[in-house]
Amino acid sequence: MKNLLVTGGAGFIGANFVHYMLDNHPDYKIVNLDLLTYAGNIHNLDDIKDNPNHIFVHGNIGNRELVEYLVDTYHIDTIVNFAGESHVDRSIVNPGIFIDSNIKGVLNLLDITKRKGLEKYLQVSTDEVYGSLGPDGYFTEETPLAPNSPYSASKASADLLVRSYYETYGMNVNITRCSNNYGPYQFPEKLIPLMIQHGLDGLELPVYGDGKNIRDWLHVYDHCQAIDLVLQKGKPGEIYNIGGHNERSNNQIVEIIAKRLHCEDRIKYVTDRLGNDKRYAMDPTKIETELGWKPKYTFDTGIGETIDWYLDHEDWWRPLIEKAKFDRFNYQG
Ligand code: NAD
Ligand code: TYD
Repeated sequence: MKNLLVTGGAGFIGANFVHYMLDNHPDYKIVNLDLLTYAGNIHNLDDIKDNPNHIFVHGNIGNRELVEYLVDTYHIDTIVNFAGESHVDRSIVNPGIFIDSNIKGVLNLLDITKRKGLEKYLQVSTDEVYGSLGPDGYFTEETPLAPNSPYSASKASADLLVRSYYETYGMNVNITRCSNNYGPYQFPEKLIPLMIQHGLDGLELPVYGDGKNIRDWLHVYDHCQAIDLVLQKGKPGEIYNIGGHNERSNNQIVEIIAKRLHCEDRIKYVTDRLGNDKRYAMDPTKIETELGWKPKYTFDTGIGETIDWYLDHEDWWRPLIEKAKFDRFNYQG
C-alpha cells in the first residue's frame, strides 16, 4: 500500500487523518477527494498545500468518471472513505442528501474498487449503526444493527453494502466503527465545539432534553492511529470497533466547558432532538487485542487540549459561523 485515495479529507476526521498519515508515512502519496460541502474546509489543509505527497481534488465520491480518473492517474491501491454527511440533526431535517453521499457514493467507490482490482477498501463507520444502549453493556462487533436516525440508517446501509462486496466478490474490505470523536478541526455544529463557541460568544449553551444521554468520547488522534492500524493489519472482511473508554453524559461535557469558560449560568435545557439515542458505549477489545491498538489520550488531557485549540484558533472557526448563517439558502437535502 502506497497510494491512498482518502475521501472527505477536508472534513474533521479526514483532515486529521491526512495529517497523521503524511507525518507517519512519508513514503505514501495521498490523493484527497472532497466535495467541500458546508463541513469541508480547504483551510484545514493550508499547512500541507505544498507537500508533494498530498494532492487535493475538489469533487464528489459519486462521480464515477472522476474517481476512475484519479485511481488510474495516481495508481491508487487503497481507498479510505470518510466522505459523507455526518450530522444527525441535519439528517432529521433533510435525509435525502444522506442517501446520495453516504449510500450511493459508497456504492460507487466499492464498484470502482472491484473493477480496478484495488488492494483494500476501508469504510469509516460509526457506533450509531448499533442503535442505543440501556444503562448496561457495550456494543461489540456482533451487536445487531439497529440504527435510529436517518444518518445512522444511511451509515448502516453503507456497511451492509461493504459487507456484501466481501461476501460476493471476496474483496479486501474493512469497516471501522468509532464512537464520538473530539479534537481540532471539528465543525462547530457538534456538541463540544458548539458549546465552546457559544460559551465564548455570550450565547446560551443548549442542552437537549435532560442532558443525561451518554456518548463514549474518542480523541480524533487515537481514531486516526486506529484506522492506520486497520489499514496495515486488518483482516479482510473484518469489522473493528474503536472507542475511547470515556463515557460521559452531555451534562458532564457541558459542565466542563462551562466551568472553563466561566459561563455555568448560561446552560439552558432545550427541547430534545427527535429520537435522541440514550447511550453509546463501545467494546474495543478486538482492535486492542488483535491489532494492539492503545489510545494515547485520557479524556481529561484531550478535552483540555481541545478547548485550548478552539481558544487559540478563533480565526479558524469564526468564518465558519459566518458562512453557516447563509447555509439554509444553499443546503439541499
Ligand atoms: P465532517 O462532516 O466533518 O466531514 C465530512 C467531509 O466529507 C466534508 O469535508 C465534506 O465536504 C465531505 N463530503 C461530504 N459529501 C461528500 C461527497 N459526496 N463527496 C466527497 N466529499 C464529500 O465529518 P467527520 O466528523 O469528519 O466524519 C467523517 C466520517 O466519520 C463520516 O463518514 C462519519 O459518518 C464518520 N464518523 C464520524 C464521527 C464523529 O464523531 N465525527 C463518529 C463516527 C463516525
Ligand atoms: P452530536 O455532537 O451531534 O453527536 P451525535 O449525535 O452524533 O452523538 O451530539 C452529541 C450529543 O449532544 C447528542 O445527545 C445530542 C446532544 N447535543 C446537545 O445537547 N446540544 C447541542 O447543541 C448538540 C449539537 C448536541
